[in-house]
Amino acid sequence: MVKQSPFSFTSEGLGSVLRHYRRTDSTTARAKEWLEEGAAHGSVVLADFQEAGRGRFGRRWESDSAQNLLITIVIKKLLPRPTLLPLAAAMAVYDTVLKIESTLDITLKWPNDVLIGGKKTAGILIESPSEGIYLLGIGINVNQENFPDGLSTAPTSLLLESGRRHDRAEVYSLLLARLEDWIPQMEAADFIASYTERLSGVGSEVTVSGEATGLFVGVSEEGGLILETDSGRTVYFAGDVTLAAQSGD
Ligand code: BTN
Repeated sequence: MVKQSPFSFTSEGLGSVLRHYRRTDSTTARAKEWLEEGAAHGSVVLADFQEAGRGRFGRRWESDSAQNLLITIVIKKLLPRPTLLPLAAAMAVYDTVLKIESTLDITLKWPNDVLIGGKKTAGILIESPSEGIYLLGIGINVNQENFPDGLSTAPTSLLLESGRRHDRAEVYSLLLARLEDWIPQMEAADFIASYTERLSGVGSEVTVSGEATGLFVGVSEEGGLILETDSGRTVYFAGDVTLAAQSGD
């Protein structure tokens, strides 16, 4: 059921139309349906609670009710290098968290996890039903205090890291404004350098998806992880990265 929402953004672009659900299965599932009905570029689906939140690699995204930001944004744009979109979204989340809490130790984990003190506070999942259409799903742990055991990356929230509760509507409007900045900037010549400055793990031995271990040399122009092993360099566009020293933990 769509509810009246305190979340607003007056831009002509992202967030100009919002569907806010008290509970739904997944904002991305709702966005996909809306797309089929003709959702405009920038339409946003927001939920207080997801019964079947989707994470990367078929995992679930668990989030307590009305504590966190759970959104999917419909992006209708022909992107010359769409593989950069997850990185641009991560930059936007990074800047949002930095704006809210400027003293925290925020880093990015390739390709698009946002960590505070090495723990995951935000995840991004993009689906592309057709060329030039992207469903940009973002989950930010804002006020959650407890997390389930056994998550693949240790979780945290803005509350746990800062000791303060935060207004989800403020996080939302900051995030949309930062996305409006970063999505066009992802084509800029210095984008990968800016992204890499915020990235953890470069220059270290890493393992990608438990399969290949080597030196994380850097990020390619298309946003891929460049791994150097005895057999040469390979560029990965998807995968779970762990520091080799941590593999098997
Ligand atoms: C990850 O595994 O790191 C990605 C998590 C993405 C979660 C968000 S929450 C809003 C949107 N709706 C979903 O079902 N998933 C994404």
